[in-house]
Amino acid sequence: MTGSAHGKILLLGEHSVVYGHKAISLPISALNTTCTLKESDENTFDSALYTGHLNALPEALHPFKRLIEALQNHYQSGAFIHTLISTMPIGAGFGSSAAAATAIVRAYDATLGLNLSKETLFDWVQSFETMVHELPSGIDALTVIHDQGFVFSKSHKTPLNLTLGAYLVIADTKTRTPTKTSVAHVARHKTTPQFKTALSALGGIAIKGETAIAQKDLESLGSLMNQSMTWLREMALSTPSIEKLIATANAHGSIGTKLTGGGLGGCIIALCETRKDAQNIERALKDLHGAPTWIAKI
Ligand code: MEV
Repeated sequence: MTGSAHGKILLLGEHSVVYGHKAISLPISALNTTCTLKESDENTFDSALYTGHLNALPEALHPFKRLIEALQNHYQSGAFIHTLISTMPIGAGFGSSAAAATAIVRAYDATLGLNLSKETLFDWVQSFETMVHELPSGIDALTVIHDQGFVFSKSHKTPLNLTLGAYLVIADTKTRTPTKTSVAHVARHKTTPQFKTALSALGGIAIKGETAIAQKDLESLGSLMNQSMTWLREMALSTPSIEKLIATANAHGSIGTKLTGGGLGGCIIALCETRKDAQNIERALKDLHGAPTWIAKI
């Protein structure tokens, strides 16, 4: 039996959401991960990153071993061949780790007939995310599980159905830094005046973003995305490859452009009014930088 999950991006509020501020997330249904289980005498794990016995998983993938062993103990199941297939770039800000964990738990749910609630699924995925990086806010786990976005804080989760009639171009720098590293970088500096100011400014921007979305005010939303990028730069989360893509998107008519997710690589997002505008930006990002791109209607 198979389980699957889609990707996510953050429109506003990455990093500050870890410290209790609001953030805004969107599901990305074009990208997904599936896990198929087949009964077997022994546990194996077949993925783009590793194929072989579950017991021999490389250290970096140990959270998968711990998740699978915990599921099998808790639900008293036998061993399986686990096959993970993903169309989602790994470590690019799409929530690939949360999506993989969701796909695995859903595959157990389907195979063992568990009928898990969304809350139980979230708990499994969030405990996996805690093994992957120590301070997950929960926004990735929540957004890959549900079919709509969220205005999210640790204390309030409000579903968000975006009907702006606008478009986001998502472009991949093809450079990677694990979320664990960027989150640890912010944690190390969070008490400095520079980071304190940046984190609270990012939280304030997400609140204004919620209003801009409610008013369908694209210009304000774009300006808030640009302001958010300024604060993310202030926290040294940008890189030359991010800046190159942002400059190209801005030179080709983006209303607002920023990194999305942990930063230090990964993806940027650019806001546009029409599909034609989005396609112009997409062409420039592909022609000038060879960037993989996606367009999402929001
Ligand atoms: C990662 O998609 C978003 C971060 O804010 C981490 C988190 O919220 O868990 C960087």
